[in-house]
Amino acid sequence: MPSSTRSVYRCSECGAEYPKWAGRCDACGAWNALAEEIVTKRASRVPAAAGGKDAEPVRLGDVHADRTPRILTGLGELDFVLGGGIVPGSVILIGGEPGIGKSTLLLQCAARIEGSGVRTLYAAGEESVEQVGLRAARLNEATNAVHVLPEVRVDAITARARSLSARVVIVDSIQTTYTDDLEGAPGNVGQVRECAARLLRFAKESGTAVLLVGHVTRGGGIAGPKTLEHVVDTVLYFEGEGSNDFRVLRAAKNRFGSVNEVGIFEMTAAGLQPVANPSAAFLSGRDTDTAGSAVTALMEGTRPVLVEIQALAAKTGFATPQRVATGLDHRRLAVLLAVMERRAGLPFHDLDVFLNVTGGVRLVETASDLGVVAALVSSVTDRPCPANTIFVGEVGLGGEVRPVPGTDRRLAEAQRLGFDRAFVSARGKAQGSIDTVPIRHVSELSAKLAA
Ligand code: TYD
Ligand code: MG
Repeated sequence: MPSSTRSVYRCSECGAEYPKWAGRCDACGAWNALAEEIVTKRASRVPAAAGGKDAEPVRLGDVHADRTPRILTGLGELDFVLGGGIVPGSVILIGGEPGIGKSTLLLQCAARIEGSGVRTLYAAGEESVEQVGLRAARLNEATNAVHVLPEVRVDAITARARSLSARVVIVDSIQTTYTDDLEGAPGNVGQVRECAARLLRFAKESGTAVLLVGHVTRGGGIAGPKTLEHVVDTVLYFEGEGSNDFRVLRAAKNRFGSVNEVGIFEMTAAGLQPVANPSAAFLSGRDTDTAGSAVTALMEGTRPVLVEIQALAAKTGFATPQRVATGLDHRRLAVLLAVMERRAGLPFHDLDVFLNVTGGVRLVETASDLGVVAALVSSVTDRPCPANTIFVGEVGLGGEVRPVPGTDRRLAEAQRLGFDRAFVSARGKAQGSIDTVPIRHVSELSAKLAA
């Protein structure tokens, strides 16, 4: 053991280091985020490149990056989000809340990769081999050949990966991995950083791809230092509303592909299944005769997806009416209600408003404003929206309806699913064979919905 150790305090949000504890991190302003970290001299030393030799410069013309093909996981949605499979030697971080299905996704992924003849090691730090086996038994996958290693010590994991000649290593999770060279429990910021750094070095030296599972904090970031997201090549988030079975895999960072793409899965009794037709899945169970329901088209990356918005407005029994929104930021709902009250004369001040987006989808684009407003008007007037109609447009503070990017692609997806009419901004130039109802201002909506 090295003779000298010292203590530093590191911010779990931004990774800034301080010699003394403080309540607030000066660098990022986070409160109560500083954690003690014991540093030994040995651990803080940067090792020389592979083989202990100094690195040599290489001419870029002599680098043949495209010669190594990507490793396909066999899960189409995952390959798509990664930008066409796993790049050898890359490090991919997969974040998500507990129970969302990270381990399930990666076990399925391990089974498929191993099945395609690429040696894969699944290091299980969170669960025993028996627990992993129980999960495997539920899945509709050929899991028998997968190597599961019940190990949390990072150097032991990389050593095993080398002796097994694994091309893909899955570490479930980075918060349980550990090195003896640092003091402090697994999950501690210093441990997470050092273990991630060693796995990164291993990936780059050996050309092995490393997939790390990371837990997310209450704030939605990956637990441990933010710097973890900076050092890895790709960050994916696995998301979903607890109450339903749809799961969305989203790239937040991707050195080897686009960050806009999403993959959509459904959690079934036999693991995760890709959802080939998300629009149809999100619209299933829709009752077209009920007032307060409107369909809009979102862009999830480059793919348009149709979702249903449900609104219910009811006379309030309180001095301050209630606003409850699932799948929409409550501030956006407040803005749209104020616009409808002032610009279209609808009396929302004495109505409770409940809003729900089906399928657990979140409306982040303003393109869905017209859909939200249409659902609200339909609920207040107690008249269902016209059948087979979608609503696409942004609503401004003046009540004006503005055009949105990708309108044609959204309308094409609607047409594919049997919709034949679209309410769109009168200011845009929507084309296609679907009928359009141009809307200039939200005050026209009530009359046009009744027509
Ligand atoms: P898990 O992969 O353990 O989540 P994470 O690793 O993100 O914590 O998945 C947990 C949930 O998924 C659990 O509540 C059970 C459910 N599940 C299914 O519904 N079907 C299945 O086939 C499997 C394996 C899990
Ligand atoms: Mg897990």
